[in-house]
Amino acid sequence: PFQVYAELRENTPVRYDEHRECWDVFRYEDVQYVLKNPKLFSSERNRTSSSMLTTDPPKHKQLRDLVNQAFTPKAIEALAPRIQQITDELLAPHLSNGKINLIDDLATPLPVIVIAELIGVPATDRREFKHWSDVLVKGARDDSEEAFQELVQEKQRNMQELYTYFAAILEQRRAEPQEDLISLLLAAEIEGQQLTTEEVINFCILLLAAGNETTTNLIANAVRILSEQPELQLELREHPDRVASAVEETLRYYPPIVAIGRVARETVELNGQTIQAGDQVISWVGAANRDAAQFEHADKFVTDRKPNRHMGFGFGIHFCLGAPLARLEARVVLHTLLQRIEHIQLVSETELEPIQSAFVFGVKEYPVQFNARR
Ligand code: HEM
Repeated sequence: PFQVYAELRENTPVRYDEHRECWDVFRYEDVQYVLKNPKLFSSERNRTSSSMLTTDPPKHKQLRDLVNQAFTPKAIEALAPRIQQITDELLAPHLSNGKINLIDDLATPLPVIVIAELIGVPATDRREFKHWSDVLVKGARDDSEEAFQELVQEKQRNMQELYTYFAAILEQRRAEPQEDLISLLLAAEIEGQQLTTEEVINFCILLLAAGNETTTNLIANAVRILSEQPELQLELREHPDRVASAVEETLRYYPPIVAIGRVARETVELNGQTIQAGDQVISWVGAANRDAAQFEHADKFVTDRKPNRHMGFGFGIHFCLGAPLARLEARVVLHTLLQRIEHIQLVSETELEPIQSAFVFGVKEYPVQFNARR
């Protein structure tokens, strides 16, 4: 889509789409303006739920403060050895084959296992947990009304199962707190009030929905770049200190989330257009991230780009809570792959099938072949 974004950025930087009934914003400066002004552009978009992702100040900060301490870079860094261990275990069975289905075998299970452990889901329940987590972000199998209805029902059933499951764990943690996120949330208070069971469960579900598929796509998109531009594999193996900045560059170049929605609270002028109160506004970070007014050689992947003020994790008060975790997982995977295997390439003749969501940039499967290094 990046070619299309370039034209839109140039010709219609802020435009109203009659068909989708929303505004689209493409330039870096304008996207940043929208995201840094929650007073003008609200996150409460006709949703019934009130997770931090879909609330505005002051409620937003209260919710976010509850979990911030669990997601600081320092707290997350402590998970590195465990993330390394899981990565090694997932990769091991494929080393002798010289082939791996990157998404199914590594990029999907890794974030699910990590978040399950962080939340406090027992390892014995992992299989069910992964299933629930998958259904949470699942798309319909085709465009038909039938497929849509089927999906809605599957998702409703899934929500009920997740609620029942988490409610049981909450009971246990109330009786016997552990070192996990559920126990932390149960002990937390907002203005002297403890969270309700429902609020704690919603929180856990938000983390699954916001963190799993996005991290999967970050890992897959990073490996995709390495296989599309194989010289980068050599460069990073020679300069492992560039892996962290290569992960940032992936978030700029192939961001897992390309668009972020808001709703205008008042009538506002943006780049010569008048947006009315109540209008939906889509900020295309995927387009902003390639804006030549902000980035030199914007269409080139530069492993050690500095500065790199990409908006792959959003911008402003809703800046991704899970960013330190997603970054760490992607770094561990890249380091491990570069160390253990070489000549990573897409299995020949594989047709890439994009994920069917306008807000997501990623593919459904990415089988790669490689040589094991010794
Ligand atoms: C918010 C992207 C991983 C939890 C966001 C936003 C973006 C984003 C763009 C801003 C949304 C907005 O402004 O409306 C990503 C990407 C990820 C990733 C690209 C992986 C590469 C994670 C992980 C977690 C997580 C691993 C949790 C474990 C959240 C939460 C919010 C959020 C809770 C809402 C924060 C708030 O409203 O203050 N993410 N995310 N994300 N993300 Fe992530």
